[in-house]
Amino acid sequence: MNWTLAARAAKMNSSVLREILKVTEKPGIISFAGGLPSPKTFPVAAFAEACAKVLREDGHAALQYAASEGHGPLREMVAERLPWKVDPAQVLITTGSQQGLDLLAKVLIDKGSPVLVETPTYLGALQAFTAMEPEVLSVAGDDEGLDIADLRTKASLARFLYVLPNFQNPTGRTMTEARRAALSTEAARLGLPIVEDNPYGDLWFDAPPPPPLSARDPDGCLYLGSFSKVLAPGLRLGFLVAPKALYPKLLQAKQAADLHSPGFNQRMIAEVMKGGFLDRHVPTIRALYKSQRDAMRAALQREMPDDVCWNTPDGGMFLWAHLPQGMSAVDLLPKAVDKNVAFVPGAAFYADNADETSLRLSFVTASIEQINTGVAALAAAIRENRPAPDAGPGAHHKHRKTERKPNETTPLQTGCHAANTARTGHA
Ligand SMILES: Cc1ncc(COP(=O)(O)O)c(C=O)c1O
Repeated sequence: MNWTLAARAAKMNSSVLREILKVTEKPGIISFAGGLPSPKTFPVAAFAEACAKVLREDGHAALQYAASEGHGPLREMVAERLPWKVDPAQVLITTGSQQGLDLLAKVLIDKGSPVLVETPTYLGALQAFTAMEPEVLSVAGDDEGLDIADLRTKASLARFLYVLPNFQNPTGRTMTEARRAALSTEAARLGLPIVEDNPYGDLWFDAPPPPPLSARDPDGCLYLGSFSKVLAPGLRLGFLVAPKALYPKLLQAKQAADLHSPGFNQRMIAEVMKGGFLDRHVPTIRALYKSQRDAMRAALQREMPDDVCWNTPDGGMFLWAHLPQGMSAVDLLPKAVDKNVAFVPGAAFYADNADETSLRLSFVTASIEQINTGVAALAAAIRENRPAPDAGPGAHHKHRKTERKPNETTPLQTGCHAANTARTGHA
């Protein structure tokens, strides 16, 4: 039989991340690679109780087909928790926020439509968008968030801007209040819709991030949220909040995709969330992740060569680092895996012009002991594989798109400057 693939299938590629995760399944490996929440944070006992209660009290409805919009009480709880006025009728429960990305891509992107993303950005969004064959345009950014001037030059005819203002995946960056205000004003002026993805916003360490962009302009924003990072990813539940004009089309796309997200799982989450459970549970995740971030930061300061840089995120799960000039994170990965430590090369998160020196380190999956061992192993792999100083002019630069002097603070690297200062005891 000759199966003829659709042209769009040729554009799909398996997630680099999934391929890397396979490597990290090697026994004994310490993985800073996956975006996996710490399993210690999964409230297993609360789910066991909720599971029994749902089956006992509502079992037949829970096991039946259900409404595509989602379980009513859960939609109400979602609307209630958001920090702007949301009508539960605008909430669509999705099979993870990843499905939200897939649905909005189907509804908003034609072949060749310009779509704006941060650079770097979440790989899973690039994958979901790519299936609809857009022209993906990367908007530059700095430590404060998106570069508004660059946005202005690229926004013409764009279907939307996809943005992660809180503890971004992959950089850990958070957009400042001032930049949010500027972005919101500029997007309204340009008539540019915003897709705001916020799976990490609750995972702040010392202070909550500024309010979402959606709170400033609910009609101009499509908001994506997830239960994966505050409860458990295995239940595959998330949600989107859509402007009323957009909701019916997203709902039709949802019906075509999977009719509805599992009603049983939705009821369990609603049951667990009753009585303010998240207000007690999420602070325990914040405390754990903060201690792991601190451990990774201390290990990096202790172990890394002087010309390795990293930032210090204020929440979330990821830290963003840069190798010495001329080194490629893609080339380093197998050498690191030989030493039983894994990370994700940052190049995976760029739609174009990847910075080959960048890498993403998750600080939440490994224990503090593993963080110490893994960072030491990574530092050793860097030392052993760095280009020889006498390799000749240009020999160090074959992978770099943007040249940079050692220790120069470039956009997204202010944190590494701070970390390098901390190394000498000044921060
Ligand atoms: C930025 C971002 N958006 C969406 C997702 C998808 O999350 P889920 O489908 O588990 O809700 C992830 C997962 O890591 C993510 O990092």
